[in-house]
Amino acid sequence: MMVCEYKPGLEGIPAAESSISFVDGQKGILEYRGIRIEELASKSTFLETAYLLIWNELPTKEQIAEFEEEIRMHRRIKYRIRDMMKSFPESGHPMDALQASAAALGLFYSRRDLHNPIYIRDAVVRLLATIPTMVAAFQLMRKGNDPVRPHDELDYSGNFLYMLNEKMPDPLAARIFDVCLILHAEHTMNASTFSARVTASTLTDPYAVVASAVGTLGGPLHGGANEEVIQMLEEIGSVENVRPYIEDCIQRKAKIMGFGHRVYKVKDPRATILQDLAQQLFAKFGHDKYFDIAQEMERVVEEKLAHKGIYPNVDFYSGLVYRKMGIPTDLFTPIFAIARVAGWLAHWKEQLEENRIFRPTQVYNGRHAVSYTPIEQR
Ligand code: ACO
Repeated sequence: MMVCEYKPGLEGIPAAESSISFVDGQKGILEYRGIRIEELASKSTFLETAYLLIWNELPTKEQIAEFEEEIRMHRRIKYRIRDMMKSFPESGHPMDALQASAAALGLFYSRRDLHNPIYIRDAVVRLLATIPTMVAAFQLMRKGNDPVRPHDELDYSGNFLYMLNEKMPDPLAARIFDVCLILHAEHTMNASTFSARVTASTLTDPYAVVASAVGTLGGPLHGGANEEVIQMLEEIGSVENVRPYIEDCIQRKAKIMGFGHRVYKVKDPRATILQDLAQQLFAKFGHDKYFDIAQEMERVVEEKLAHKGIYPNVDFYSGLVYRKMGIPTDLFTPIFAIARVAGWLAHWKEQLEENRIFRPTQVYNGRHAVSYTPIEQR
């Protein structure tokens, strides 16, 4: 057997062949199934993008209408799941609540007919439809309120904002939220997607696949950076404080949150789109000093760190957008999960099509031939 060099974090080692998404980090290009993210953000919807990611083609008018209707029909969560969620501690993180609830879905649909397209379609519909309801339900229940029933007249994103805020959503806010979901739907072989594929490769059910990916996304090195961006902007507090803050970070070799990316060495194309969305949101709902602070940060970081390829990433502006929509900070990562379910399901389906169980090797660096010491002699 060929012995490969060990790479911490498997950096640069392909974990799969995939035709779902493509990133060119030098040119700042992101494509889903070959279509540029800018085009999808301006012309598509999240559900159409999810369909594209999962079934590899843009749907026809009839196909998208049928898909949207199926999702609409499956938005409500079972009362037993709701009752289970009611017993979760209010102080628990919404990502943990989401992981437990997604896993619990598997109890209701334990049949694994993984090569049947109808089973795959049902699982896709059920997960895309119910994950936003679970996130909104936990948010209301932890405040001591009953969850709100999904609104049949509203589209995917409008309905989520309605369930979360208990009022009809503003159309611009709903459209901007939908674009945020498109931007976060998929991003090649990141940690949670890898986790989803490893779990999928054992031929377990898709609810376990999504639950394991949610658990992986929850960590601060992956999905949690946009929460930290908000804390940082609040700490900086004014445009005048930006330059000294950044100079201090550079001097202490501290990472500036929302900047830098393992793959992108230019500005993340999703950050450019989000910056524009933030501008639209602030124009309609009132100016926000944190947006000015963010713009100044981008200018100063570019001046100081562009030579290292450090530019804003997707997390830099997304938190500002969600904050302006009144969404609590600890829901930012669950919202990332609502979007990324589309990518995880696309990878689940792709993994099943050419499955081989993941079974990497390791470099053993422990002891050998050690004799057992009786407990009295230790
Ligand atoms: N602020 C200041 N300097 C930075 C930053 C940053 N945010 N990111 C990287 N650098 C510098 C490093 O100090 C290093 O400098 P050096 O060569 O002088 O030592 C150089 O750029 C390379 O940095 P690495 O840490 O090796 O880059 P890596 O590719 O491993 O890290 C990462 C990428 C983890 C995203 C990093 O940029 C970071 O921690 N950013 C802040 C957190 C963040 O915003 N995460 C969200 C990423 S997007 C997402 O996950 C959805």
